[in-house]
Amino acid sequence: MTAIKIIPFPSKATLQPGWFTLDANTRLTTDQENQANANYLRDLLTPATGFSYPAGDLANPEPNTIFLELTPKYGSQAEAYSISITPENVRMSAGSPAGVFYAIQSLRQMFPADIESDRPVSGIEWKLPCAEIGDEPRWPWRGYMLDEARHFQGIGMIKKLLDQMALLKLNRFHWHLTDDQGWRIEIKQYPRLTKVGSQRPGTVSGNPFLSRKHDDKPHHGFYSQEEIREVVRYAAKRQIMVIPEIEMPGHSSAALAAYPEFSCTGGPFEVATKFGIFSEIYCAGKSDTYVFLENVLAEVADLFPAPFVHIGGDEAPKRRWRRCPDCQARMHAEGLQDEHALQVYLTNHIVRYLSGLGKRAIFWSDSFDPEIDSSAIVQYWVGNKKRILKSVRQGREMILSPYLYTYLDHTHATLPLNKAYSFDRASQPFSLQTEGILGFEGLMWGEWLPNYRRVEYQTFPRLAALAETGWRQDPLPYQDFQDRLEHYLHRLDTMDIGYAKRTQTRPPWHRNLLKYIDIALPKDGISKPAKQEN
Ligand code: ACM
Ligand code: ZN
Repeated sequence: MTAIKIIPFPSKATLQPGWFTLDANTRLTTDQENQANANYLRDLLTPATGFSYPAGDLANPEPNTIFLELTPKYGSQAEAYSISITPENVRMSAGSPAGVFYAIQSLRQMFPADIESDRPVSGIEWKLPCAEIGDEPRWPWRGYMLDEARHFQGIGMIKKLLDQMALLKLNRFHWHLTDDQGWRIEIKQYPRLTKVGSQRPGTVSGNPFLSRKHDDKPHHGFYSQEEIREVVRYAAKRQIMVIPEIEMPGHSSAALAAYPEFSCTGGPFEVATKFGIFSEIYCAGKSDTYVFLENVLAEVADLFPAPFVHIGGDEAPKRRWRRCPDCQARMHAEGLQDEHALQVYLTNHIVRYLSGLGKRAIFWSDSFDPEIDSSAIVQYWVGNKKRILKSVRQGREMILSPYLYTYLDHTHATLPLNKAYSFDRASQPFSLQTEGILGFEGLMWGEWLPNYRRVEYQTFPRLAALAETGWRQDPLPYQDFQDRLEHYLHRLDTMDIGYAKRTQTRPPWHRNLLKYIDIALPKDGISKPAKQEN
């Protein structure tokens, strides 16, 4: 369709004759509000080009300048922006620094891919085609979730992923930090959460459904509160909000291994070395459990400035609650009909507690109930669409992650690139609903992510397909996306991202659940530490 190869493709883009070419005299001129954006852009352009981009004066504009500035014309559209490229100048403007940041993400994709190189590249003319671009996102919530409870990846990988999210104009990093197989965030009041809960003696290996083999390799890792703050700062510089997930009442074996007193039976328990759904969940009867969860959330709320906390809620079997005198006593005292109602009660208690801390709760859709406080945001992966839609029409907000289309742990055979690109259609009737849909997330579950190459292989380029679908108001034909893909993949090569090269394979067994996981790694997929950046 066009020689402009930006992903996600902008709302409006017109090529014009001529080029703007970077040289040693090109200036980078900004208003006060975009100083950080100017520094970011300079850091992006300098290594490959070798030019230094001296600052100019906005009041005395000169030719051969890249301008960054806010304009009142966008009103409340914080993420909208425009770019005007002429042979004399490049002008990026927006209503907020976020918009200018997205202008930069589009601009960088108009250069040859080598612009991403972290060392000087010679023999390339750094040319931009003259163009007029106007752009704004469809949804305000464009997310990527990484599950590090199942496998800890570490801060170098997180930064690398945040850089990639920024390129795709994604603005929500959902960090799944606790689960049965690991607790990955330091909580000062409960040191055993990480001392005990962040370690396991091994992990199930081989076929995910049949295997009883263990690799006997200890796995451990967690983030100190200082590291959490570092990630939050790094993300904020890239216009990304970090939303922590603390799972409750299920997927809590690691926490209960550390503090069995918050279970129904008292334990003892171990951090899980297999995957699946576990019976041991927090006791919703004991008052001590509520105090524990509140104390944990208070520290979490303090670490993450985002006004949202994800509290999980999925896959919580009620076996233990049915036989627990404390749970049954609470159900009786509160007039709760069944154990499902007890989960709703616990959820509402936590939703209100978080609300007192200025945070809104997010919960997984399989635990949906219309009685859950309407301030809580439902994240749809499975569930009763009709009931959920009714609640959304009554004012509840929602995030879309339909599992057949957005689960990045699925193989490239099960979820090929074109299917990811079509997730919007698959999300109907929700995605036709304009009120209440905040946006979407691509979910990178971590069971089968032993190293960062595997994360990259599963995530890319499918995340780009999701990002474009979530950014654009009107989807383009898949062929158009494909025509721009090669350019994007060159960038990933330059940035050392081990993306999946076969993205369309549909072998005859693609519906065979036993081969659900594509065990083959990319050829160069050997684990090595991710680059540490700042
Ligand atoms: C989920 O996939 N258990 C949210
Ligand atoms: Zn109980």
